[in-house]
Amino acid sequence: MGIAVSTKNDVFLLNTKSTSYGFGIDDRGLVRHVYWGRKLQCVEELELPEFTEVSTNDPVFQITPEEFPVHGGLRYKEHCLKAIFADGTREIVYQYCGYDVEKGEDWEELILHLRDDHYEFFVDLHYKLYPEYDLMERSVEVRNQTEAPIQIEKLHSAQFHIPYENLNFSNVHGHWGAEHQRFVQKVSYGKIVIENRRGISSHNHNPYFVLDRDATETEGEVYFGALRITGNFSGVVEQTAYGETLVQMGLNDHDCLLELQPGESLTAPAILCGYSSSGFETMSHNLHRFALDHIMRKGLRPVLYNSWEATEFHVNSRDQIKLAQKASELGAELFVLDDGWFGERHSIQNGLGDWYVNEGKFPNGLEELVDAVKGLGMMFGIWVEPEMVNPKAQLYQQHPDWIYHYETRVSDTSRIQYVLNVTKPEVRDFIYQMLDNLLTRYDIDYIKWDANRPISQTGPQRDIWYKHIQTVYQIVTDLKKKHPNVLFEACASGGGRIDYGILGIFDDFWTSDNTDAYDRLFIQDAYSRIYPIKGMRAWVTDCPNFLSGRVIPLTFRYHSAMMGSLGVGCNILKFTQEEVELSQRMIQQYKEIRPIIQEGTFYRLENPSPNDYFLYEYLKEDQGVIFVFLPQSKVGHRGTTVRLRGLEEQGRYTLHTSKGDVTKSGSYLMYHGLEVKLSGDYASAVVRFEKEP
Ligand code: GLA
Repeated sequence: MGIAVSTKNDVFLLNTKSTSYGFGIDDRGLVRHVYWGRKLQCVEELELPEFTEVSTNDPVFQITPEEFPVHGGLRYKEHCLKAIFADGTREIVYQYCGYDVEKGEDWEELILHLRDDHYEFFVDLHYKLYPEYDLMERSVEVRNQTEAPIQIEKLHSAQFHIPYENLNFSNVHGHWGAEHQRFVQKVSYGKIVIENRRGISSHNHNPYFVLDRDATETEGEVYFGALRITGNFSGVVEQTAYGETLVQMGLNDHDCLLELQPGESLTAPAILCGYSSSGFETMSHNLHRFALDHIMRKGLRPVLYNSWEATEFHVNSRDQIKLAQKASELGAELFVLDDGWFGERHSIQNGLGDWYVNEGKFPNGLEELVDAVKGLGMMFGIWVEPEMVNPKAQLYQQHPDWIYHYETRVSDTSRIQYVLNVTKPEVRDFIYQMLDNLLTRYDIDYIKWDANRPISQTGPQRDIWYKHIQTVYQIVTDLKKKHPNVLFEACASGGGRIDYGILGIFDDFWTSDNTDAYDRLFIQDAYSRIYPIKGMRAWVTDCPNFLSGRVIPLTFRYHSAMMGSLGVGCNILKFTQEEVELSQRMIQQYKEIRPIIQEGTFYRLENPSPNDYFLYEYLKEDQGVIFVFLPQSKVGHRGTTVRLRGLEEQGRYTLHTSKGDVTKSGSYLMYHGLEVKLSGDYASAVVRFEKEP
């Protein structure tokens, strides 16, 4: 396993449990890609093909698969790196100059060192292998050791070569209230570009690629990579004229210029990538397991109650205490006070930036609510939007130069707010101090950090697209050092911030403001392909749903939200006794199955029925849970067959169905399957099962 180097020291084979990735260095010092796919046994068998030139119009640089194509020479394809040297030279000519290997407990890293032919400019290509997870993390570091600044005009983290044409490319599209809408499109000649230019990563597309050869959940080849960045990114997929598909991803070069001063270096966001020969499920499992073990904060996420949909901006101590009492009666473990508690925040018009407790709403201070929540045995959480300011806020009156702006232009608002230039040290310090004070003064366990508008009018600095999010990461990282028990939720106008960059910085992630339990099935399914279930915060909210107008039974709403980290956002003071009791039962059941949901292995099961069943399974060691949803019965209604996955063929499993216990072998449940029939509309069931000892 791990890194194998050929005897001639010119070919590298990077092996994980079941995959291999290979490249070599040719006699010109070019790093040339040779292989990505199922595991190979012997590095010595890999050879670098001879350089070929189709014609003088198809130069070798254009045809040859390179690990990290740079801008320069006879290369016209997408490049990963373009630098402008102080004398105006805009091309890079690199030479390979050796490698290093580093090892950790469950990883091995190969670092290839490249240097420019003329300038003291260095490029290190990093390949960090996690063999047990069948994953590799690729990143690149550039270093300026010249005496003058170097401008980096483009920096993509890696290029991948897939030796096929006509692949399927999938990602998500969407917008506020409709995040994670999965799409699949055929790759043909030309380029597919997905990107974000707004400074907030994930409403519209998400920074990952999935390319497959007509794969299913359990069969077929899938190549994938997820970029670890929450700001602007771009990804390009290109089927070339030479029988292969290229894909690369990294920082978006749109309006971006990064300057490296002498002695400075820059590491591009890593791409976590892998190959599966057994469909999408393996991809999801490998990513989920890695995220749980290596990226996310440990521990189960609490069942939360959030008052936003119940009270919006009309918060006050008395009503929030009543909500907290009711939430505690239902079984919630965390009470989150959302927007509206600070400054003159009575609507979106004012308040952002003025982070003092509004005395009219909290005449006895915030302590009254915090104490009440703590007295109920719950954790206390609070909403903030630290990167923003309203034009009417005192903060803006005092510091009009703290926002991104151009001196000669009228600053544009969105949701009646400006974006603070957090890359200014005084602004960064203000935000850190404000949050540190809040966390020090009050017994707060949870921060919901929102960001409700995109960045614009960035001023003369062209590096803020990168530096803004790095500063946010840094503030949260520093706050966590000082307040290690506080959980941070990333929210950005709903699901605007979920990616593999933020996954290790924040702890909880708001999936979408769309809380319609039916819409959520699609959103959650797409989310689950790349992101771990523990990160997927899902609330039960009131009906008719504020967005869809749909009325869905409370049980279905609970079941849909129980597929992730459960939260409740209803006006629970209006609950009938029946709704209170149902909620208590559901929350209790969720707590019992929570380790299986949040830390188990997740399966998107096949639905063989013409009826639109949604079938999911979670499995953790000997315990499992099945979710069955039937949003609508169709004419000639039939049931479905639930074929489980991941069981031991010989094991005996007892399923606790509504009609009583059923015990079957693993092979029966996986190959024959269990007949299930729901009827009516918005019908749903949760079935627990366990393996006999
Ligand atoms: C955003 C969030 C909501 C809520 C509001 C408050 O829209 O997604 O959950 O916090 O802001 O203004």
